[in-house]
Amino acid sequence: MPETSTNGWQGRALVVGGGGIGRALSAELARRCPSLFVTLATRHPLSDAEWTVDLENPESLAQLTEQLRADSNPLRVVINATGRLHGPSYQPEKRLQQAEQSSLLDSFAINAAGPLLLAKSVEPVLNRNTPFHFASLSARVGSIGDNQSGGWYAYRGAKAAQNMMLRCLSLEWSRRLPLATVTLLHPGTTDTALSKPFQSFVPREKLFSPERAAGHLLDVLLHQTPSDSGRFIAWDGQDIPW
Ligand SMILES: NC(=O)c1ccc[n+]([C@@H]2O[C@H](COP(=O)([O-])OP(=O)(O)OC[C@H]3O[C@@H](n4cnc5c(N)ncnc54)[C@H](OP(=O)(O)O)[C@@H]3O)[C@@H](O)[C@H]2O)c1
Repeated sequence: MPETSTNGWQGRALVVGGGGIGRALSAELARRCPSLFVTLATRHPLSDAEWTVDLENPESLAQLTEQLRADSNPLRVVINATGRLHGPSYQPEKRLQQAEQSSLLDSFAINAAGPLLLAKSVEPVLNRNTPFHFASLSARVGSIGDNQSGGWYAYRGAKAAQNMMLRCLSLEWSRRLPLATVTLLHPGTTDTALSKPFQSFVPREKLFSPERAAGHLLDVLLHQTPSDSGRFIAWDGQDIPW
């Protein structure tokens, strides 16, 4: 029988991404599930307790696999909280003429390939008899069916690609790892570096603190079971159209 009570969640939890939501998720997961050893993995660790990982670097991902193989705690949950919407040299596109190969590829590297390659790097330590949750932060703007305004080609396209790839993964794992649950999550607009330049369009009551977003996301995630695997779900538990 799959475990459904969070009291029973034991082993290693890995939250990848040291941004606003990643750090809040790591703290809230540790508070809610005291039997988990929650570890934050980031490109810029702030202490020895944090692991180093760069999802855009194959060597770093291979090192993560070895670190997990050496870990005495079985891997119970992985949450990908990395992502990028803007960078030093680009902003989300408002028009087609702003689309550039470099920013399209940059966005796909972290927002689409990153989560799938993270799953690939943790798979070697999973087995078919142990429950496991893999969650990744997508975004509602990655929904094709819900897209009413266009723009943001690189970010929307990469999040849509992430959704497709992790949906494929959920189907592969349902055959090979039947106790695995793959979940794509939309956190709601949250006050972090990623959303900072765009917050003036958001009513204050609709802008979540990272702590509030983390609470919502765990409310959803901790209730997912293998029969739910492959869903794309918002912070309020509602399914989002693909
Ligand atoms: N905030 C929102 O309103 C909102 C809305 C919808 C969806 N989301 C999604 O939520 C997730 C978390 O975003 P956030 O709001 O917490 O943004 P954030 O504060 O900017 O955090 C994103 C983190 O991703 C990390 N990252 C980027 N490239 C990486 C790589 N190659 N390897 C490892 N880490 C990498 C960054 O780490 P460094 O510090 O090392 O650069 C950064 O800390 C993202 O997937 C985002 O798309 C956010």
